[in-house]
Amino acid sequence: MSDTEKNFLKIVDLKKSFGSGETRQEVLKGLSFSVEKGEFCVLLGPSGSGKSTLLNIIGGIDNADSGYISIGGDKLEDLGEKRLTQYRRKHLGYVFQLYNLIGNLNVKENIEVGAYLSDNPLDIDELLNTLGLYEHRHKLPNQLSGGQQQRVSIGRAIVKNPDILLCDEPTGALDYTTSKEILKLIGDINAKYKNTVIMVTHNEAIKGMADHIVKLRDGKVRLNEHNDHKISAAELEW
Ligand SMILES: Nc1ncnc2c1ncn2[C@@H]1O[C@H](COP(=O)(O)OP(=O)(O)OP(=O)(O)O)[C@@H](O)[C@H]1O
Ligand SMILES: [Mg+2]
Repeated sequence: MSDTEKNFLKIVDLKKSFGSGETRQEVLKGLSFSVEKGEFCVLLGPSGSGKSTLLNIIGGIDNADSGYISIGGDKLEDLGEKRLTQYRRKHLGYVFQLYNLIGNLNVKENIEVGAYLSDNPLDIDELLNTLGLYEHRHKLPNQLSGGQQQRVSIGRAIVKNPDILLCDEPTGALDYTTSKEILKLIGDINAKYKNTVIMVTHNEAIKGMADHIVKLRDGKVRLNEHNDHKISAAELEW
């Protein structure tokens, strides 16, 4: 593995505050870690520790105050607005906790929205099958269960075949069985398409299926370790 692949996603001394004066809050206090290309990285940490803030900065939605992020050797801040937009559109999939589906588009159309943004989208019917959504493809979001909606939002992110897939608590709102199905899906996608995955979760048990575990607390990295004994999502227990 080349050095660029080993440090595919590099986070260096990242700092971020919100507010000013009395209400200023330092959320990220100098974070550094690297994620290898193709790795399944799980980001753990208590509520308010800065996980979503970090994901938004990696996703180019928010800016850091200092420090930097590089992807494949390119610093995000040096990309300029045009290349940053390209990066977000073509190379990044973002699965939000609250699905953010378009209510008047059916399942297949919601996923197609992601495909339009890409130069080499995955085959939509094949993906609908992988997602277990083929027979639901003509339904609107409000005719779907929570787990099915989450699968559509994963489909919309993954259909671009992004280099990087960011998932913010993809199972936060789901029951045990559905959570496991979604985790298996994300694990299978990572194995099949070799996307680099960063997944935020509160659930410690999920680290068993990760290649790499990073734990944040109080704005800093408190644990940064690799897992050589990965198990499948089906074997996870909590
Ligand atoms: N736009 C903002 N303006 C002001 N404060 C913010 C903003 N976004 C986040 N914060 C604050 O930054 C801290 C970290 O928030 P963040 O959403 O990153 O936490 P988190 O680790 O994702 O938590 P959770 O597990 O609850 O989702 C919180 O104290 C939050 O109030
Ligand atoms: Mg969050």
